[in-house]
Amino acid sequence: MFTWPGPALYVHRCGGALAPENTLAGLRIAGRLGCAAVEFDVMLSADGVPVVIHDETLERTGGRSGRVSDMRAAELFEVDVGRVFHPAFEGECLPSFESVLAACAGLGLIANVEIKPAQGFEVETGKVVGELLTCRGGDPNVLLSSFSVDALEAAAQSAPDLPRALLAETYSVAAQDRALGLGCGGLNLGRQGLLPEHVRQAKAAGLHVLVYTINDPRDATQMKAWGVTGVFSDRPDLIR
Ligand code: G3P
Ligand code: MG
Repeated sequence: MFTWPGPALYVHRCGGALAPENTLAGLRIAGRLGCAAVEFDVMLSADGVPVVIHDETLERTGGRSGRVSDMRAAELFEVDVGRVFHPAFEGECLPSFESVLAACAGLGLIANVEIKPAQGFEVETGKVVGELLTCRGGDPNVLLSSFSVDALEAAAQSAPDLPRALLAETYSVAAQDRALGLGCGGLNLGRQGLLPEHVRQAKAAGLHVLVYTINDPRDATQMKAWGVTGVFSDRPDLIR
């Protein structure tokens, strides 16, 4: 059975609100703030290479058109995802999954790898992520998660020893049962609509609960009082 990587704060999308999301620049900021863990999103390029990005298209973070699953990795790695966030980050390019894992290792950051498959690529994305992590020796500082049951199941087949969590926007007994059925150690839940009894029930079922996205320190204090294992935050400068 796996060991759960247990820090209380996971910086959301590498550097939260302090850097362009899902970038190496974000990881460096998390490192400089003394954070222990980050979360980021992994999707496949058209040629099957895992890259770190949240959206299926490049509009919002890259300020240009293009679908991640239609473009080759070499092309994606040239997309500037820093300039739209702030001109000071111009030239910060969309990173590969491998470069982000290497940077996390170098900075001593625990990585919550959220498998974020483009629609229709759930199994393939989970399989590639799991295989790559297994090839790297099953890094103990990795937590796998996904909203996609198919992706998580595929990742679990290729990397059975890595801890994993099912993501759900809201708590339900069905989501809890799905997490248990997938052999997950955690249920990662959205803050909206979350009640203390949901946390209690999940914990009573043997699951850790991580909550996204907590940016107000008062909310973080409340989550701690409810007994959650950790929170995802865009404001690691405020939530410690
Ligand atoms: O893993 C927590 C959180 O990242 C899930 O939502 O949309 O930001 O990937 P999203
Ligand atoms: Mg995410």
